[in-house]
Amino acid sequence: MTKDATITPSADGVWTDLRVADGTDTSDAVIVVQHGMIAWMGPHADLPGDYANLPRHNGQGALVTPGLVDCHTHLVYGGQRANEFAMRLAGASYEDIAKAGGGIVSSVKATREASEDELFASASQRLQSLLAEGVCAIEVKSGYGLSLEHERKQLRVARRLADAHHVTVRTTFLGAHALPPEYAGRSGDYVDAVCNDMLPALAAEGLVDAVDVFCERIAFSLEETEQVFKAAQALGLPVKLHAEQLSDMGGTALAAKYGALSCDHIEHLSQAGIDAMKASGTVAVLLPGAYYTLRDTHLPPIAALREAGVPMAVATDHNPGTSPALSLLLMVNMACTLFRLTVPEALAGVTRHAAQALGLQDTHGELRVGAPANFVLWNLRDPAELAYWFGQRPVRTVVRQGRIAVP
Ligand code: NIG
Ligand code: FE
Repeated sequence: MTKDATITPSADGVWTDLRVADGTDTSDAVIVVQHGMIAWMGPHADLPGDYANLPRHNGQGALVTPGLVDCHTHLVYGGQRANEFAMRLAGASYEDIAKAGGGIVSSVKATREASEDELFASASQRLQSLLAEGVCAIEVKSGYGLSLEHERKQLRVARRLADAHHVTVRTTFLGAHALPPEYAGRSGDYVDAVCNDMLPALAAEGLVDAVDVFCERIAFSLEETEQVFKAAQALGLPVKLHAEQLSDMGGTALAAKYGALSCDHIEHLSQAGIDAMKASGTVAVLLPGAYYTLRDTHLPPIAALREAGVPMAVATDHNPGTSPALSLLLMVNMACTLFRLTVPEALAGVTRHAAQALGLQDTHGELRVGAPANFVLWNLRDPAELAYWFGQRPVRTVVRQGRIAVP
């Protein structure tokens, strides 16, 4: 497969009879797309005559939102881990399984064994589920290769996905995700390899948009995390962090010191961490799919984040271990139901704040004149329905990168 056959060439034209889901309840709104960009937006009554000759697309009263942004995924990997799901049902914890040699390392084995084309094919299929639901930009992390050759393979697949499916992809190098078996007992040597060999080589090949670390007692320490951040900083790359998921390691405050784009998971985040995020403008990425799958009971400190004014995003964290989720709208529902986000918070979480978590706030996550045309028409009346339903696909039409994508 090279191109996504479900995409027609152009969304250029005048999109009429839309209802903008931004709380203003603008009805009879118009979006004009020219050369793949939003050229004009506003009430129909104000539509300038200049666009009279463009093709018309009648929205028939559809609710319209910006294209969704999934700002945290591990989409490219070999195999699957349904066996661990069964082990957890039988009482094993995520940490037990990781310590027994399963977990991330078992996906590393399967990813290393898979060819680039095989990884591309399986990730394409997963990506299509997300795209059909209105995702227009997505982050894809490495972290299941854990060697230069195999991290490169994962990141190359991420770049190919962008081209083949006409979707914005931000790649994140997550070499410090787990200790590969060949480095058992030599964590320091592995982090040296991540910082001195893997990251510089992959960055030079243009494969890295950001750098992430799994800072946790079963993964990498605070000191190791800082070493990776310094290497990223030396290359001018922004950082992110898997922070305070299972315990409060203080990773968030460290990440904030390095101006992190986001800190993700953060179930065990302290007030000091929240204050540090606020000061550095770091986005809090909430991952209800992992919380749910691990049957976690330690809620992220939503009220304190809200109180502090830290922007909150919501993502699938799609991965074969802790979140085999392929619906961002289900995450919106869970963010509301499990984490008690308000509907507007959850919607900002998969649009504006998700874009910010990827450094894409100037081009994605908002309907804005001058931005690439990425928007979704929904078969819904009320924006709250985006959070309310689960298990259905209420998409009518997706406009992605200025093209009409048919669900
Ligand atoms: O975001 N927390 C670390 N990384 C992933 C899980 C990866 C895996 O178990 O394969 C996450 O939840
Ligand atoms: Fe993750």
